[in-house]
Amino acid sequence: METSILQTGPRSPAVPSADLVTLLSQKVVGQSAATKAIVPYVYMYQSGLAPQNRPAGVFLLLGPTGTGKTKTVEAIAELLHGSEKKVVKIDCGEFQMEHETAKLVGAPPGYLGHRETTPLLTQQQLLEATSEGCDLALVLFDEIEKAAHSITKLLLGILDKGLLRLGDNTTVNFEKTLIFFTSNLGAREMMKAINPGIGFHSQIAKSQADMATRLESIALGAVRKRFSPEFVNRIDAVVTYSPLTREAMELILDHDIRALQDHVNLRLGERYFSIEITPGAREFLLQRGISDEYGARELKRTIHRQLTQPLATMVARGEVQPGAQVNIALGTDGEQLSLTPFGGAKLPAKHKPSILIVDDNHDLLFFLATELQEEGWEMLIAENAPQARLAFYQRKPPVVLLDYMLGEDDGLHLALEFQQQSPLAQIILMTGGGFSDEEQLICEEHDFPILYKPFLAQDVLNLARGRFNRVAAAASV
Ligand SMILES: Nc1ncnc2c1ncn2[C@@H]1O[C@H](COP(=O)(O)OP(=O)(O)OP(=O)(O)O)[C@@H](O)[C@H]1O
Ligand SMILES: [Mg+2]
Repeated sequence: METSILQTGPRSPAVPSADLVTLLSQKVVGQSAATKAIVPYVYMYQSGLAPQNRPAGVFLLLGPTGTGKTKTVEAIAELLHGSEKKVVKIDCGEFQMEHETAKLVGAPPGYLGHRETTPLLTQQQLLEATSEGCDLALVLFDEIEKAAHSITKLLLGILDKGLLRLGDNTTVNFEKTLIFFTSNLGAREMMKAINPGIGFHSQIAKSQADMATRLESIALGAVRKRFSPEFVNRIDAVVTYSPLTREAMELILDHDIRALQDHVNLRLGERYFSIEITPGAREFLLQRGISDEYGARELKRTIHRQLTQPLATMVARGEVQPGAQVNIALGTDGEQLSLTPFGGAKLPAKHKPSILIVDDNHDLLFFLATELQEEGWEMLIAENAPQARLAFYQRKPPVVLLDYMLGEDDGLHLALEFQQQSPLAQIILMTGGGFSDEEQLICEEHDFPILYKPFLAQDVLNLARGRFNRVAAAASV
């Protein structure tokens, strides 16, 4: 009967399996115990040797916050399916009440409104979390300790037989899945072990191995207290994540900075620049972004706030020349980074139509600036009404993109003022909230098109181009 294994055998992922260990440990830094525990189950599935009538692997991931538990599942999804979003995620915090099982599996027929309760876990959903090259779906139950006991019971059925019976009596088959549970069980006690008292510094440096063993026994103790032995016995591997070491933190920072540089190269094309970070600036980012308490949870946000946003502003203001090097050092006050561009050269000047964008959202400015510059527009930007007036009256841009909410100012008033001063100016309004009927009427009367956020860069490009052509046509008659 071994042919049946071959016939129904699994499809292989895009990444050759031999590379999986190396690639996974590059993405999830310093947690080799997790990689070593999980990867063999992927191999087993790929070879067709995974046991039948149960999931291909069941893992419980424990340990301090921000140490890479969720990241591990996302990284496997990226390696197997090409996208870290290919994970069926169930947030168990949403199923704390016994009656909430219906949200997960749908209500049985006969119950009022059963047609409206679409189950969260369906065969179709599992299918959508696979890819052409690999049919192994990843299912993540986050914060499993919060789930009501009725949910844990349902899960027992999945772990035991690989089947989940839905409210409408159909079944979902979990044989082609890896199931991950994450939990913060024992987290408080683990924190105490890591940080024994205020004023004492972490003992991690003293004995990394001792600490790992200690955390593991705390975690397992907490798990045994909360879950029944049947449940614990059906888990293939319980992995306790260690607090991040200094070396791991540095590697995660390197990785995030490389990702920022890649982003710059990709988005800015021939106008790319390079980033150089001094040791002082690195230390600043590490201090702000990584802690014993939150792991690396804050690092991405710190980099975004301290580095990406100021860089975006410089780029949008045209302060960084193509090919320049931007040196990033610790500012003299020690409270922020200082960014200094060196070198680079202006690209040969072409005649470019200009567009003024007025918005106080840095991210949006950066994003639009990049897209519009690629299309050959000269960008003028302003974050508030006084800056906008200055740019508008000095440079007379043919097209203006105005945000409706401008802190103290009102974008619509500004639009009316600009139109009165330069009737030919083409003004586009953006809004996140929406206009009142009266305001919409004003926009119609004055021929201000409205872009409702979120919108695609292509929408702005099309509108701006169309409006510019109008000015050009009006000027040529
Ligand atoms: N070991 C690691 N390797 C690489 N990146 C990491 C690692 N640990 C944390 N990070 C970074 O920190 C972020 C938060 O980590 P993650 O979401 O995996 O935490 P977690 O362990 O699931 O925490 P929680 O218990 O709070 O859910 C990740 O998106 C990633 O950028
Ligand atoms: Mg998590």
